[in-house]
Amino acid sequence: MTMSRSRIYPLLTQEQLQKRIQELGAQIAKDYANKDMVMIGLLNGVYPFFADLARSTDLDFEVSFMRVASYGGGMESTGEVKVIQDLDSSIRGRHALIVEDIVDTGLTLDKVRKILLDREPASLRVAALLDKPSRRRVEVPVDYVGFSIEDHFVVGYGLDLDGKFRNLPYVGIYNPA
Ligand code: IMP
Ligand code: MG
Repeated sequence: MTMSRSRIYPLLTQEQLQKRIQELGAQIAKDYANKDMVMIGLLNGVYPFFADLARSTDLDFEVSFMRVASYGGGMESTGEVKVIQDLDSSIRGRHALIVEDIVDTGLTLDKVRKILLDREPASLRVAALLDKPSRRRVEVPVDYVGFSIEDHFVVGYGLDLDGKFRNLPYVGIYNPA
């Protein structure tokens, strides 16, 4: 597949992203005040969102990362999730907040939630920058949603197409045709 920036149509600008992330950070700071919170980023796609959300959340908390891979590249999730890199700290008895770039079928998040719930955190919530509810194949709770979007394949601000376009500062729709 040849990939080109000319196939990307802007969906969310830097300004829209930053404004919404400020709101989410303020809400999270309120909800987790005086709690021992661990903010868990799912690499790689979450990196810009995570950095901005963490800085918008005016609290003291620990950050930790996990890298999972769903088999097969391209534009579809397979539902087979493998932990490539695990957290470097325990979440037992602590308030865990998973931060994800996008929830599509929900298969990845469902698997990660089960892995983390086994470790008996005091609570487990999810923050996702983007949500594509029409694509859901498994019901999974998303507590903090940046933007709910239509069924488009999107790139930028961490989201990739075969590893590319993560560094774009905005989110755009990738039109392959
Ligand atoms: P799910 O398991 O189908 O919910 O998909 C989760 C993962 O698939 C996300 O963390 C993304 O890495 C990837 N993904 C889903 N939709 C998109 C998209 O529109 N653009 C880029 N990556 C996506
Ligand atoms: Mg991805």
